[in-house]
Order: sequence, then C-alpha cells, then structure tokens
Amino acid sequence: MLIAHISDPHITERGTKAYGIAPMAENLMLCVDHINHQKMRPDLVLLSGDVTNDFNVNQATYAREILAALEVPYYLVPGNHDCRDVIWDVFGGAACPSRQDGFINYVIEDHPLRIIALDSLHPGQSGGKFCPVRLQWLADQLAAGGERPTLIFLHHPPLKLGVPETDVCGFIGAEAFGELVQSYPNIQRVLCGHIHLDTHSQWRGTTVSTAPSIGMGLDLSLGQSGASEFLLTPPGYMLHHWLPQGVLVSHSIQVRSFEGPFAFVPVET
Ligand SMILES: [Fe+2]
Ligand SMILES: [Fe+2]
Repeated sequence: MLIAHISDPHITERGTKAYGIAPMAENLMLCVDHINHQKMRPDLVLLSGDVTNDFNVNQATYAREILAALEVPYYLVPGNHDCRDVIWDVFGGAACPSRQDGFINYVIEDHPLRIIALDSLHPGQSGGKFCPVRLQWLADQLAAGGERPTLIFLHHPPLKLGVPETDVCGFIGAEAFGELVQSYPNIQRVLCGHIHLDTHSQWRGTTVSTAPSIGMGLDLSLGQSGASEFLLTPPGYMLHHWLPQGVLVSHSIQVRSFEGPFAFVPVET
C-alpha cells in the first residue's frame, strides 16, 4: 500500500500568492501532477490540513478544483487556517466522508492499513485541541479496529517539536490523546502537518511524522525565540509505503527536476 501525504497548501484566491510571495496553487498543481506520474501509483492521498490560508469558501473551492486532477482518491482534515464548516461544505462526502458530533472525524477501512482521520481544530487558535468528545470517538474507533495496523492522521502534532508552532501554540488534550495511543501498539504512525517541516519523532510508543508544506518551509529557529518565518522551498510531499512484512517506510519527495536516472555503473568520460 502506498500513501501520498501532502500538507499545508495554504491556497489563496485564484491568481494570488500566499502572503504575496508563495505560489501555493501552482505548487499544489505540481504536486498533483507528480503524484499522478509516480511509477507506483499511490492508493490514496492524505492532505493534513491548512487547505486554505484564510478560511474562506473561494479558497477551498479553488483547492478542490486543483485536487480534482488527482487520479486517486484523496482525503483531508482541517487545519488552523481552515474553517470547519467551509471544509465540510466544500469537501464533505468524498474527501471528508463523515462528520461526527460536529467534528470532521472518519475512518478509511478498505486498505491494508486502517486510517483514522481526526479533527484537531480549535477555532480561533493556532494550536490543536482534542476534547473529551473527540477522545471518546477515537477510543471507540480504536476498540472497533482490534489489532489491525492503523494510521492516525490529523493536522496538529500532539507533542512539542522544538518549534514555536508546537511549543508555544500547544495542543490541549495531548496528554489524554497520548495515553490512548500508548495503549494501542498497532498504531503504526501518527501523520501530521502544521509545522511546515519534514520530521519524525518518537511519541507514546509510536512515531509522529510531519509532512512539509508544499512550498513554505519553516525557517528553522530550533529553540530560539522570535516570530516564525518561512522560506520558499521546492514543493514536496511524503510517500508512506506499507510493505507486506508490516513495515512503514517514509520517503521525502521534492518536486523538481533531477538529472538521471543513471545506472550504478561507471560513467565513461
Ligand atoms: Fe500551515
Ligand atoms: Fe497549521
């Protein structure tokens, strides 16, 4: 099973760039085209939030138009730059199959890896939140899945990763979320976005992986205080490859031209 994981497209109005400089719609188109041309076709695409930059329906609709070019199914969860109701109105049904107690939570069952999508949105806040209602829903889904290998997919990483987006903004309810995750060793990975960096960290008996933004990479400060800034990075995404022997291998993909491929034999000069 192969999963393409894209994150944080921050789509703005048609013909504009995010913060006046980042060509995010163009980057998303490049990622879509790159995914469609992978030699091994992904089974599905996960988009871990911040679909829009400014919450509104025009941006979400434009994102949906770009994502419609994907030749495989895609699913998404909202981020802190999204409005939950707008995401549901624009993507509900296919890309967000269900809404539970008002939250965009759902389970994708028909693959070797079971995928649980969680809504970590805390409206009006940059950080994440996992309230008792969402926690109970997750507990029920994990219990229903038994020992099946499982991925959890949400916008906000539930731990501090040494950047302001996690360490300052925080995640309300992360402790209870972590206790639940720790009791299910079949959770292979927790997939997130939000920090605009490609990272992997141990957490509660599993691994939390964050996908990069598709073109606004966080300028690393690593513990230094100060306002966050971004760099215009090449568009990129991750490929998570679930092997038959039960190993999840994650690859970082940059969408740009490389010379090659070349055979592993000496090149004549
Ligand atoms: Fe973001
Ligand atoms: Fe975010």
